[in-house]
Amino acid sequence: MNAENREVVKVLMVCLGNICRSPTAHGIFQERINKANLQTHITVDSAGTGSWHIGSCPDSRAIAAAGRRGYELAHLRARQVNPDDYIEFDYILAMDRDNLRNMQSECPGQHKNKLQLLLDYSDRKDKEVPDPYYSGGDGFELVLDMVEEAIDTLLQHLITRHSL
Ligand code: 4NP
Repeated sequence: MNAENREVVKVLMVCLGNICRSPTAHGIFQERINKANLQTHITVDSAGTGSWHIGSCPDSRAIAAAGRRGYELAHLRARQVNPDDYIEFDYILAMDRDNLRNMQSECPGQHKNKLQLLLDYSDRKDKEVPDPYYSGGDGFELVLDMVEEAIDTLLQHLITRHSL
């Protein structure tokens, strides 16, 4: 609950390593939340289904690409999805189907309806954000384009659905 006794909507962005796609989605959504002055109504976090990069800051290429569009990622630190996340968060949004499937196999049945693809909130036909880790510069720009579009729709959805 926040100061107005309203539920806070909690959103978790999830990819594999939590160093490229999900921190990008985290940083963009935080910027949109701040701009809409909804910090007390919506919170965002991010995590990875993998454990390799726990404690790391985002990939330097993700930080640089996001920075060119005015998003701050350097303060974020990678963590792994944990069982409490399925209880704690209201929307758990995966960047691709592998990560969605991994969470579906771990998530308790009563919370499975929280699991979606982020790009379910996009008009794009392709619903997966491609992993840019091995693809280099253009890949990071594509991630930003796809995530920006979906997040604008997501924000409007939350405002309407939760009367924010
Ligand atoms: P992300 O990208 O899932 O968007 O953070 C990756 C980062 C690291 C690795 C894979 C994907 N990796 O294999 O280390």
